[in-house]
Amino acid sequence: MNLQTTYLGLDLKNPVMPGASPLVDQLDNVRRLEDAGAAAIVMHSLFEEQITKQQLSEFYHTEGPAESFSEATSYFPQMEDYALGPDRYLTQIAKIKEMCDIPVIGSLNGVSLGGWTDHAKLIEQAGADAIELNVYYIATDPDEPGTSVERRTIDILQAVKDAVDIPVAVKLSPYFSSPGHFAKQLDSMGAAGLVIFNRFYQPDIDIEELEAAPRLELSNSTELRLRLRWAAILHGHIKADLAIGGGVHTVEDIIKAIMSGANVVQVVSSLLKYGPSHIGSLISGLRHWLEDHEYESVDQMRGSMSLRNSPDPSAFERANYLRVLQLWKV
Ligand SMILES: Cc1cc2nc3c(=O)[nH]c(=O)nc-3n(C[C@H](O)[C@H](O)[C@H](O)COP(=O)(O)O)c2cc1C
Repeated sequence: MNLQTTYLGLDLKNPVMPGASPLVDQLDNVRRLEDAGAAAIVMHSLFEEQITKQQLSEFYHTEGPAESFSEATSYFPQMEDYALGPDRYLTQIAKIKEMCDIPVIGSLNGVSLGGWTDHAKLIEQAGADAIELNVYYIATDPDEPGTSVERRTIDILQAVKDAVDIPVAVKLSPYFSSPGHFAKQLDSMGAAGLVIFNRFYQPDIDIEELEAAPRLELSNSTELRLRLRWAAILHGHIKADLAIGGGVHTVEDIIKAIMSGANVVQVVSSLLKYGPSHIGSLISGLRHWLEDHEYESVDQMRGSMSLRNSPDPSAFERANYLRVLQLWKV
C-alpha cells in the first residue's frame, strides 16, 4: 500500500504527523514519534512575545534599565512560562534534525509586523525543512475591519517568506467572513500550505472570583467537521497543500480528512491522551482500511469527497443546513 504523500514540497512516507505541541520538548518523545512512523515532526511554536522579550532584555543589558521601561516589560509572559526559550528552541531543532530522518517543521507564532519574524531565518539555519506560521489573533477592537486583520496576516507571511528559502505554511483560524477568499489570497502570496484550523481556547468565567478562567480542554472528533467542510470547499481551488488539524482522533477521521482534500493530518489531543506511539496505530489502521477497501494509494482517495467531486455538493452548502434542521422531530 502506497501511503506516500507530499506536503510543502516535502516527500512524506505517510500523511500523519503530530501537530505543534510540547511533546517535542523531550527528545525521547520525538524518538517515539519517529519510531511509531510519524511522517514529520512539527515543533511547538516560538512566540513573538518570547522573541520580543529576549530582544528587549538584550537591549536592557546594553542600555541599562529605565523605570518606566521595566514596568512595560513586566507585561510580557515570564520566559520560564515556556519550556524552551528562543535559543534553546533553535538548539532543539538542530538536535531533532540530527537524530531524526523525517522532516522537521518549525513554528513561529505572532500577530504583529516586526523584527521577531527574522527568527524565521534562524529556524531555517537550525535545520528546519519548513515553517508553520501561526497568526493567532483575536480581533478585540470593534473599530478594526476584517480587511486589516487579513492584511496583517498577509504582511507577516510576506516578511517570513522574505526571510527564508524554505516553504512556509500558514495555520489559520476559521473566523474569517470569507475563508475561501482569504485562503486564495494567501495562496497567491506563495503560502506553500494552509493548516486548517487553529483551535481557539475560549476562556470560561469564574462567577465567584469574577475572573476569566483559562481552560485547556482536549478536542474530540466532532471538531473535525468544520475542517472537513473547508478542506472540501478549498480542494482544487488553491495550489497550497492542505493540512487538517483539530479533531483528528481515529483512523476514520484521517480517511475523512483525506477524502475532503487534505494532504496530511496533524494530531495533538489524541497523542497527549494516549502517548506518542499512538500515531503508529493510526498509521497501521489507515493502511488496513485502504487495503480492505481496495485502494492502491492515499493519493487515489484524496479529494474524492471535496465540493468539486462530491456526488452531493449541496451537503456542504446551505441546503445541508435546511436538511439538518428538518431532522429534528418533536
Ligand atoms: C498543550 C498544547 C500545546 C499546543 N501548542 C501549540 C503551539 O505551540 N503552536 C501551535 O500552533 N499550536 C499549538 N497547539 C495546537 C495544536 O497544534 C493543534 O492545532 C490543536 O490542538 C488541534 O489539534 P487536536 O484536535 O489534535 O488537539 C497546542 C495544543 C495543545 C493541546
